[in-house]
Amino acid sequence: MSNHVLRPLFVVAVLVFLGLLARHFIVPKDFGIGRTGYMYGWHRKSNVEDWKAVKVKYRTAEYCKDCHSDKIDLIMTSPHAIINCENCHGPAVDHPDDPPKLPIDRSRELCLRCHFPLPYPTSGRGKIRGINPELHNPGQACSTCHNPHKPELSIQ
Ligand code: HEC
Ligand code: HEC
Ligand code: HEC
Ligand code: HEC
Repeated sequence: MSNHVLRPLFVVAVLVFLGLLARHFIVPKDFGIGRTGYMYGWHRKSNVEDWKAVKVKYRTAEYCKDCHSDKIDLIMTSPHAIINCENCHGPAVDHPDDPPKLPIDRSRELCLRCHFPLPYPTSGRGKIRGINPELHNPGQACSTCHNPHKPELSIQ
């Protein structure tokens, strides 16, 4: 073979070798059980402990029940019943210990995330009633007229 083939081949061989060498040092010793093939083999034993240590951030509406039952009672009889509180208020984590309060977002953007009309024929998103934000009471917070926990009670 001529040199212009051998030289790049040599470079590739060196790169492969360096890759394998790096892998030898970087991949943790407990990675891969090996025996059961790749489906279960892509696994690091100590990772199980890492995952156990991951802090749960979202607690679902069930968690809010004891302290904000008024909001739960309201939302459950509204078309927003399917939306989790934390979808609008962010993750509860250890609230009310940490953080003592959850944020309240009164921006129009919060609602337009779901109520900007999108013509997705094959997804549920397309069925949510949309409004044109430039024509539908522009400049005013949606919650001045719609209670976010019972939005159909408009005009209060
Ligand atoms: C153990 C009781 C408790 C639980 C559980 C709880 N909260 Fe709270 N929450 C509080 C207290 C106390 C405050 C502070 C009230 C205040 O200072 O006016 C608060 C404040 C808030 C606020 C801010 C209210 C404001 O006027 O600024 C929001 C929003 C909120 N909580 C949402 C939630 C959501 C959503 C959940 C469930 C994921 C939840 N909370 C679970 C007790 C609780
Ligand atoms: C669609 C978004 C949305 C959802 C879902 C939602 N909220 Fe709210 N929440 C808001 C907005 C916006 C405000 C501010 C309302 C206002 O300005 O009058 C608010 C205000 C609050 C407040 C403080 C004001 C008050 O009246 O005490 C609490 C507490 C609260 N929400 C708890 C909850 C809980 C608990 C749930 C679940 C049952 C929930 N929210 C679900 C958007 C939402
Ligand atoms: C996560 C998605 C989501 C967010 C965020 C959201 N909505 Fe909704 N909303 C829905 C769904 C789903 C329905 C029920 C289907 C429908 O009526 O189109 C609904 C229904 C409504 C309705 C129709 C009520 C009726 O039956 O007459 C109003 C009004 C409304 N929402 C206002 C708001 C306002 C105001 C906000 C912001 C505070 C908001 N929504 C945030 C998903 C959302
Ligand atoms: C000044 C009061 C006011 C404000 C502000 C307001 N709305 Fe409305 N909204 C209404 C009234 C009244 C209706 C019912 C009559 C109609 O369809 O126009 C309505 C209807 C709706 C509907 C149902 C539409 C349908 O096809 O049945 C949705 C969804 C909605 N609003 C979402 C929003 C969102 C999102 C915002 C903020 C970006 C918002 N509204 C701001 C008064 C308001």
